[in-house]
Amino acid sequence: MIRTQVAIIGAGPSGLLLSQLLHLHGIDNVVVERQSRGYVEGRIRAGVLEQGTVDLLIAAGVGARLLRERLVHDGFALGFDGRTFRVDLKGLTGNSVSVYGQTEVTKDLMDARVAAGAKLVFEAAEVALEGLDLARPTVRYRSEGRTHEISCDFVAGCDGYHGVSRRSVAPSAMQTFERVYPFGWLGILADVPPAAHELIYSNHSRGFALCSMRSPTRSRYYVQCGLDEKLQDWPDSRFWDELQRRMPADVANAMVTGPSIEKSIAPLRSFVVEPLRFGQLFLAGDAAHIVPPTGAKGLNLAAADVRVLYRAFVERYRTGNAGLLDRYSAECLRRIWMAERFSWWFTSTMHKFTEDAFAHRLQLAELDYLTGSTAALTSVAENYVGLPFESPA
Ligand code: FAD
Ligand code: PHB
Repeated sequence: MIRTQVAIIGAGPSGLLLSQLLHLHGIDNVVVERQSRGYVEGRIRAGVLEQGTVDLLIAAGVGARLLRERLVHDGFALGFDGRTFRVDLKGLTGNSVSVYGQTEVTKDLMDARVAAGAKLVFEAAEVALEGLDLARPTVRYRSEGRTHEISCDFVAGCDGYHGVSRRSVAPSAMQTFERVYPFGWLGILADVPPAAHELIYSNHSRGFALCSMRSPTRSRYYVQCGLDEKLQDWPDSRFWDELQRRMPADVANAMVTGPSIEKSIAPLRSFVVEPLRFGQLFLAGDAAHIVPPTGAKGLNLAAADVRVLYRAFVERYRTGNAGLLDRYSAECLRRIWMAERFSWWFTSTMHKFTEDAFAHRLQLAELDYLTGSTAALTSVAENYVGLPFESPA
């Protein structure tokens, strides 16, 4: 039997960041992950960090490479109706965002945890949470042919949308809210210079497309696709052709194409569970909520949960006061719903839902209004760079 203070389920960004912050504050923890370390480090996902996320990563002691290698973006572009409009994030809000891949964030956190001698269990099978209503719950898992048990004070469910933590709670104890979109994103990663210095989100009659990047020599591109699309039907040539058709002509003409080094399809979903706490179990990140990627909020929201949760644990262990833990759910849900709203709005405005020409005209009118109104643009920019926190990281 292993004993610890906080058992963390999942070694994604939420689990690793929580583990690192708790460790820095002297709180013992064990991370239990279903996949191998290589698998976790190889996943290609988000790319845009809010300044609040950057600040938290710095506070966690993993900011050095991030500050060296990130690309600071003061704006992004909206493509629609044959034109391109730049949203001046810095001018409108005073803030910027950082382009730095989730893969790199995960690697920095993993390296820091391993260097500190963290207790990380990879390839844990049949992970099960028990006694969540008791003072000391148990986490059970199978590894190397044996069953292991962790006895802890608290469990942090950081195991993503498909994880075991949320499913360990009786459905009658929670409320879930969900919207499934009738399309997905087909994404590729390629070692070619980005088509433009900043991200371009394009609303096109053939469907949405996004030009993003990871570095001056590595690009990340997406096109909206049907939910029944198969990767084998998308050779690189078809992807590049479709992307170029959906981008403004000057961008399409300047785009450098090349072989993809990764290609995947992700469905789009909005999802929230309420509350985030069930007895001694606290859900954080994708285990508790999903946003469609259009607003670049998924990873940032996960970090925002961890920011509240690690402080609540620190207060509880330093002073015995569980007030912050009691308020965890309510405090996080406010920000979560604001990010859900923004991500839903941006998704709705930029994607093709049906062949309905009326709906497309309304989207173009919305974008026309938005780009002509400083008030409307400021609202978009405030949400994109990340809503403010009450206290520093
Ligand atoms: P995850 O990253 O999902 O990590 C959860 C971890 O728990 C995983 O390592 C998983 O293996 C582990 N786990 C699962 N089940 C168990 C179990 N039973 N026992 C133990 N461990 C378990 N956001 C953006 O902003 N932009 C994007 O482009 C973008 N693309 C995405 C593409 C995909 C395919 C997905 C799934 C998400 C994407 N996101 C994107 C969202 C963003 O990546 C997530 O919000 C972020 O990864 C959340 O981190 P997390 O640690 O909460 O969850
Ligand atoms: C990405 O680079 O993967 C990315 C960027 C912005 C988004 C979504 C994904 O809104």
